[in-house]
Amino acid sequence: MATHAPPQQPPKLPIPGVENIIAVGSGKGGVGKSTVAVNLAITLGKLGYAVGLLDADVYGPNVPLMMGVTATPQAIGQRIMPIESHGVRLMSMALLNPGDKPLVWRGPMLNSVIQQFLRNVEWGQLDYLVIDLPPGTGDVQLTLIQTTPLTGAVVVTTPSDVSMEDARKAVNMFEQVREPVLGIVENMSYLEHNGEKIYVFGQGGGAQTARLMRVPLLAELPLDMETRAGGDAGRPIATVSGHKQAKLFIDLAKIIVERAEEVKKKNRPTITIAD
Ligand SMILES: Nc1ncnc2c1ncn2[C@@H]1O[C@H](COP(=O)(O)OP(=O)(O)O)[C@@H](O)[C@H]1O
Ligand SMILES: [Mg+2]
Repeated sequence: MATHAPPQQPPKLPIPGVENIIAVGSGKGGVGKSTVAVNLAITLGKLGYAVGLLDADVYGPNVPLMMGVTATPQAIGQRIMPIESHGVRLMSMALLNPGDKPLVWRGPMLNSVIQQFLRNVEWGQLDYLVIDLPPGTGDVQLTLIQTTPLTGAVVVTTPSDVSMEDARKAVNMFEQVREPVLGIVENMSYLEHNGEKIYVFGQGGGAQTARLMRVPLLAELPLDMETRAGGDAGRPIATVSGHKQAKLFIDLAKIIVERAEEVKKKNRPTITIAD
């Protein structure tokens, strides 16, 4: 097999005013990546943080639908204003290209749009910018994580073997470009029925993947009809105070805040003061 030289690393420029950038990725589509990104962003907002949400899934930008946003963003000079919803500042290609017309752009064009979303959107001061990445480990994802100083990545998977196989690839992608993986979120872990847990997609896959990849398992989120319905209705489950799933998102958000602090401490250069 041919070996490839590692691609040249472009510079990573910070986004002024943005403290932490959390990328939510997955090996596969349909595993709940956007659902996790949306509910995580809303929950971080509820915990008192200033939060932005960038829908970088340019092939399937579903975040505005999930956030209940249809407004068109306004430009002020060269800056695009994000749209606020459920306490989160949002930007998505779906806001600029509404309807069912697909974008037929090639990689370089998509990369430049994502860069504009990162750098020409007036995010303001943010504690957390959550990025919903496109699924998989292709050029768009790689370019984004190579040019953006991530605090860390969250990889979403279901417990099924096919999803986990691709989740391992996603973890490897982040590690290859030396971006810390905060951990794995197992989504659609089980369905509760008459007090019994039914493991629709298999049991323990997330924990197994986390062990294998030596990263923490951050959450096991059940399959839940109201979570799906909330996403479709533009009222994500995290907005429903007291709901079981909303509580799990609070736990998840708190763990992610802890993990973000942990990896930042680890990666911060140590300064020795000579006497
Ligand atoms: N835990 C869950 N329980 C019920 N439905 C879910 C859950 N997570 C995601 N869904 C639903 O599954 C579908 C795919 O989720 P989505 O977040 O769009 O996946 P992805 O972004 O990975 O393609 C959506 O209809 C969403 O509402
Ligand atoms: Mg999605």
